[in-house]
Amino acid sequence: MTNQQLHQRRSQVIAQGMGALYPLYVEKAENAYVWDIEGNKYIDFAAGIAVTNTGHANKRISEAVKAQLDNFSHTCAMVTPYASFVELAEKLTELAPGETKKKAIFLTTGAEAVENAVKVARAHTGRSGVIAFKGGFHGRTNMTMGLTGKVAPYKAGFGPFPNEIYHAPYPNAFHGISVEQSLQAIDDLFACDIEPSRVAAIIFEPVQGEGGFYQAPQAFAQGLRQLCDKHGILLIADEIQTGFARTGKMFATEYLGIEPDLMTMAKGIAGGFPISAVVGKANVMDSALPGGLGGTYAGSPLGCVAGLEVLKIIEEEDLCAKAMGIGEVVNARMTKLQETVPAIGEIRTIGAMMAIEFTDPESGQPMQDMTKAVISKAQENGLILLSCGVKANVIRLLPPLTIESQVLSEGLDKLENIITQVSNAAV
Ligand SMILES: Cc1ncc(COP(=O)(O)O)c(C=O)c1O
Repeated sequence: MTNQQLHQRRSQVIAQGMGALYPLYVEKAENAYVWDIEGNKYIDFAAGIAVTNTGHANKRISEAVKAQLDNFSHTCAMVTPYASFVELAEKLTELAPGETKKKAIFLTTGAEAVENAVKVARAHTGRSGVIAFKGGFHGRTNMTMGLTGKVAPYKAGFGPFPNEIYHAPYPNAFHGISVEQSLQAIDDLFACDIEPSRVAAIIFEPVQGEGGFYQAPQAFAQGLRQLCDKHGILLIADEIQTGFARTGKMFATEYLGIEPDLMTMAKGIAGGFPISAVVGKANVMDSALPGGLGGTYAGSPLGCVAGLEVLKIIEEEDLCAKAMGIGEVVNARMTKLQETVPAIGEIRTIGAMMAIEFTDPESGQPMQDMTKAVISKAQENGLILLSCGVKANVIRLLPPLTIESQVLSEGLDKLENIITQVSNAAV
């Protein structure tokens, strides 16, 4: 069977709304390598969208999950729980930034974590409004689509969304949006759209993910914290893409010098096993009635044991330091490349959450075509890459944090060649 044959079969039975970036079908994967069913080998700079931070088919995680499978795979944590469910909550509440006592709940997907953070915030405050940011991404369920600040493809045709959601601009030095402008826009919302006493929460990503890998400045996060404190609003940090050592800290909020009231976690939490969490201040988390939060598969035992192993690996292998090292290597290589490729408008590396934004050097306009061409050339060059950005002009690099340095270097050789070729073809 070939990739093309399977892709043809896929198009017959899978709706197009569930897009596929690459027509390659995976046979196996190991650390930062992926092999397709034709035996082609790729270097993976996507890690399943920032999920396998601990590498593909990590032996320690596989062993932990296999042992759990031999005991039991499901009892429902809300019916008859198990030790790993409590142990993972103990660890995450300890790791979450800030001194206030925390509590956790577990769910299955990132979007569900965000939904539940909003539920908790509404239950705690008795208010309904939520402020989110333009360019933000929070998921594909109805509430999280409403919170997401990008129309195509995430919201187009799917409305109506829940009401009482408002969007403010996210600060972005590269595109000329200052911290003051962003904070002022929230004040404007309070003046024009909703009084602050009806706002339950402000939700933000410490580094916007799908939006283009823009990091929140400290002054912005601290401004949000002050606004929230002043008006009794809860601050939710969506750490679904940024968490678990990706940015060189366990959580990207640690760069900001604030304590959020609630945090959402998923993706890297369990190396690919579907589990997510909301961790927040204990008095806030306890606001919902027993049974109001959770789900049949929420906090699956397979996810819990995988999550416990992920945390051990992050600590023992110092993956935060590894993420910083990866970011430095990539930044140096791409900065050098920028000398010969003027379409590289900006290189952003927050640990190993790394992006290259393509803009026309003369007009400053986003270069979507160049981005698309780089993505599509990646497969034939044995590289898996992702794009992002509200204007779809950003390449994001998210290799496993366990990537060997020579594999990283080999992947960057490929990336440099691809960008150079595409850039030369465009001239
Ligand atoms: C910041 C952020 N929030 C929420 C989500 C939604 O997570 P999931 O796709 O697991 O529902 C994502 C996924 O990319 C994300 O990056």
